[in-house]
Amino acid sequence: MSTATAAKPGLDTADLEQKVKDMYRDVALNPAGEFHFEMGRALAERLGYPACDLDRIPAAAIDSFAGVGYYFHLAKLQAGETVIDLGSGSGMDAFVAALHVGTTGSVLGVDMTGEQLDKAERLRAAAGFDNVSYLKGYIESVRRDDASFDAVISNGVINLAPDKQRVFSEAARLLRRGGRLAIADIVTEAQLPDGVTEKAALWAACIGGAMQVDQYLEAIKGAGLRLESIHDNPQYRFISDNAKGAARKYGVKSVSLLAVKA
Ligand SMILES: C[S@@+](CC[C@H](N)C(=O)[O-])C[C@H]1O[C@@H](n2cnc3c(N)ncnc32)[C@H](O)[C@@H]1O
Repeated sequence: MSTATAAKPGLDTADLEQKVKDMYRDVALNPAGEFHFEMGRALAERLGYPACDLDRIPAAAIDSFAGVGYYFHLAKLQAGETVIDLGSGSGMDAFVAALHVGTTGSVLGVDMTGEQLDKAERLRAAAGFDNVSYLKGYIESVRRDDASFDAVISNGVINLAPDKQRVFSEAARLLRRGGRLAIADIVTEAQLPDGVTEKAALWAACIGGAMQVDQYLEAIKGAGLRLESIHDNPQYRFISDNAKGAARKYGVKSVSLLAVKA
């Protein structure tokens, strides 16, 4: 395993997990509250989500959308495909994916935060999305067989994981040969200093855990996935002063990318 992608020795990962869960519990329960990041429909539309897709999924899932970019144009999901959303939050991307794969396909959302899962499941049942299901669990180790999915999607999540190599290896394990990883995430141009990466609170705000982009791509390659395309998402804005400062100083930014299982 690459040490650059493994958990930082000075980082308290139990504390990090609790801070992430606390933050995203509030995102599920109180999306109108104050956060270090943007959320909701205006953000989704600015990132590139077509209004016609958003109009067809539960509005409350969109209210709690905390993604960082659009990647469905890269994923090119087809009717009948099986999709897994790593860190599905309140479910917005899983619902969008469900529109694309149709009733012959299926989408599984995985998240470790109970309140996010509960909200997504409640909205799913009320809206009758029978091709979607949600599973409580960790994206590092998903209780599903090897090669069970045509596509792995994820939005704004892998930056929060202490061991990114492990997440990409799990994504590769879950994909069939030729399957696609299509994600949006936060990365950095310069390596963040230890003082930033060791602070769990900065991780939970999607800054502290952001990996230098070349190392991030190396971790994807190390998992047996071939990068097909990557682009920046300048429409994604950081809103807290801390985050804006880090974005300027270290080139913290959102990217969308597509990789294929060789
Ligand atoms: C920034 S939110 C994004 C949620 C969703 N993808 C969206 O676009 O709204 C991050 C989500 O990832 C989940 N998460 C973070 N680390 C995780 C892990 N290791 N395993 C499972 N879920 C995780 C959090 O609970 C939270 O719901």
